[in-house]
Amino acid sequence: MSTVKLEEIVSLAKRRGFVFQASEIYGGLAGFWDYGPLGVELANRIKAEWWSAMVTDKDNVFGIDGAIIQNPNLWKASGHVAGFTDPLVDCTNCGARHRADHLADTDSTDLEELTELLKGKSCPKCGKQSLTKPRTYNMMMKTWVGPIEDASSVAYLRPETAGSIFINYENVRETMRAKLPFGIAQIGKAFRNEISPRDFIFRAREFEQMEMQYFINPDDQEKSYQDWRDFAWKFLTASLGIKADSLEWHQHAENERAHYAANAHDIYFKFPFGSKELWGTHNRTDFDLSNHSKESKKDLSYFDEQTKSRFIPYVIESSVGLDRMFLAVLTDAYHEEEINGEKRVVLKLKPELAPYRFAVSPLLKNKAELVEKASELFKALKKKHGNVIWDDNGNIGKRYRRQDEIGTPNCITVDFQSLEDDTVTIRDRDTTEQKRISISELI
Ligand code: GAP
Repeated sequence: MSTVKLEEIVSLAKRRGFVFQASEIYGGLAGFWDYGPLGVELANRIKAEWWSAMVTDKDNVFGIDGAIIQNPNLWKASGHVAGFTDPLVDCTNCGARHRADHLADTDSTDLEELTELLKGKSCPKCGKQSLTKPRTYNMMMKTWVGPIEDASSVAYLRPETAGSIFINYENVRETMRAKLPFGIAQIGKAFRNEISPRDFIFRAREFEQMEMQYFINPDDQEKSYQDWRDFAWKFLTASLGIKADSLEWHQHAENERAHYAANAHDIYFKFPFGSKELWGTHNRTDFDLSNHSKESKKDLSYFDEQTKSRFIPYVIESSVGLDRMFLAVLTDAYHEEEINGEKRVVLKLKPELAPYRFAVSPLLKNKAELVEKASELFKALKKKHGNVIWDDNGNIGKRYRRQDEIGTPNCITVDFQSLEDDTVTIRDRDTTEQKRISISELI
């Protein structure tokens, strides 16, 4: 478990404009969050890293951006209408609802096992022993399409982005003239009516997923599964700079696996509230394409020219939540240090992920020559890097503390010497060391 307290992360996120409670002025809405100016920058950089590694850098993975609402038959075929459930218990005394597996502190969702484990348990809200037996509850969010709200117009907000990937398999294969193995990737919102959203953005009702389905010959399943597990680990440690010590593998036991998975390995991150699922690699076999073939009556089999055989491709899925990745990046980067008896909070983000690459300041904001020179430098750096912030608020110490908290790797100060020799000071966020550097070298 991380030693960082979740309250510290939530407080920093709010204080510095990373994440706000959705509908805050109306008292919020459980399970929904808004990303602020700095949060959206960090989230966009994480998405861009993932898209580069997953799509741009590969020759055989193609991106799509599917609709959030699709024909509900998609979710019948995928098994979500019947099987996308969580176990739930009600309290007959106070009316509270709880996730049965969370209450029983188990990963199992087996109703009989949960009934046994919950014997003698009290409701965490009112303390009474008045919990019902566990039952299943469908997590898909429903809506109605068109003006008539009846059974024929029911549709669902997608519970995972994978669905529109499967139903576009044939479109992508044909248009891109793709041969197995190839992948389809997507980043987008997903919605789940979670019984108990909790732990900040870790378990939300609206969240974003980054998913890729890799279509393969069934004979390649072992190797491909291992390759995508390796990809996930490497991405987290190398592309995002998360410490390997903060991560661990967890293989799903049979009673934990989703209805579609024959094998599943999660990478867990050591969050402040425990080591929990961040990124899943799943062997979905031919479950999805077979079921969509049956439900849509479209032949989704593949003819392999080399082996002259026809089969339904298997799918290895790589699936991660952006919000959980964002929380993992913040938690891993969060450091508290003491300097001269004062607490320094610093986000040691990988420089490429930081909302701002540089902060530029004039030493004094009431000296026109300093402000003018600093603003020239600010404009030049902004033209080159885009994400540069101007900061002339408070004294220089306060500016450094503010930039440390948002993870700005370098603060640049224009002082009186700058006017004479065209040099500036550049301060390193992690070591707090300052060097003089010429402006031309800096740019
Ligand atoms: N297509 C497979 C799939 O959706 P999942 O394990 O249910 O698998 C994939 O979800 C990832 O989505 C998880 O590993 C997690 O990172 C993220 N995720 C799932 N439920 C979430 C929630 N309620 N809030 C935030 N992220 C969530």
